[in-house]
Amino acid sequence: MQSRNANATSERLGPDAAGVARAAALLTSGGLVAFPTETVYGLGADACNADAVAGIFAAKGRPSFNPLIVHVATVEAARALIDLDNRGDLLAQAFWPGALTLVGRLKPGAGIASLVTAGLDTLAVRVPDHPLAQRLLAAFGRPVAAPSANPSGRVSPTTAAHVLAGLDGRIDAVLDGGACGVGLESTIISVVGAPALLRAGGVPAEALEQALGVALRHPGDDPSAPISPGQLASHYAPRGRVRLNATTAQNDEVLLGFGPVSGTLTLSAAGDLQEAAARLFDCLHRLDAMDAPAIAVAPVPDRGLGRAINDRLRRAAAPR
Ligand code: TXA
Ligand code: MG
Repeated sequence: MQSRNANATSERLGPDAAGVARAAALLTSGGLVAFPTETVYGLGADACNADAVAGIFAAKGRPSFNPLIVHVATVEAARALIDLDNRGDLLAQAFWPGALTLVGRLKPGAGIASLVTAGLDTLAVRVPDHPLAQRLLAAFGRPVAAPSANPSGRVSPTTAAHVLAGLDGRIDAVLDGGACGVGLESTIISVVGAPALLRAGGVPAEALEQALGVALRHPGDDPSAPISPGQLASHYAPRGRVRLNATTAQNDEVLLGFGPVSGTLTLSAAGDLQEAAARLFDCLHRLDAMDAPAIAVAPVPDRGLGRAINDRLRRAAAPR
């Protein structure tokens, strides 16, 4: 990750065997590699490496932690990560590889970093159809977490030049596969319960409904159903009430430390924001596992990844 500073430039890798091997090696060592899919370019990191995944949010400058889509090469690899019932399996067989993302219940022991799901018990998975994405995923051999490869709030990139225009020097490399064919993000379907459309995208909803033989649910239309992508990061909160900017624990509180404030659990003793982001959701889950009735959280500086961490902590501390 030494190359990721303001003065460095990112490597531009060609779509040949050497480029794919270099991209896979960078992912293996925890690096960030943008790669083409048929929808848009993704900003990839090893989905099982929490620190690498935190690097995605740092590079994009995302002010909050949205859950990420995990990319794998085959339907079998997807099935190792999420539960697919009959309808999920039908969609996977009919539309993968392709511009479809399925959200399913995360299998225990899948090994996905909790920052990928923003602490949720569901995971978004896609098998992309782009030949270069397929070769990279096969060479790397593990799940790759990847949001669109643009700075937060900017348009999704459909060429390597778009990627570099936004992220040059902030990522290790871009694998150049030319322009994306679909140019629009994947369609996201939840297969937890009856299939539901979470985001319209590259595969038309009509095609999915025809394959399923039933209409999709539209949870976004129902104000009582909170499941819409983007709002999902607010879905998970620890059970204990949360107090922010604390330097000591009071009464029944368990202290979650950072930097000079050391707690029962600590986000990063070194005050490293990337390490803190990588550990955040694990710490919240562990506080639940400890049955912490109340949680006091040390101050986290509101810069860089600290903004996303504080956004998440403020949601956790909001009145319920
Ligand atoms: O075409 C695409 O989908 C591209 C390429 C790179 O695969 N990726 C992409 O990722 O568009 P991103 O991060 O820009 O959008 C991911 C969406 C977000 O709206 C997020 O809320 C949703 O996926 N998402 C991820 N995990 C989810 C989950 N467990 N439940 C519901 N929605 C989820
Ligand atoms: Mg995006």
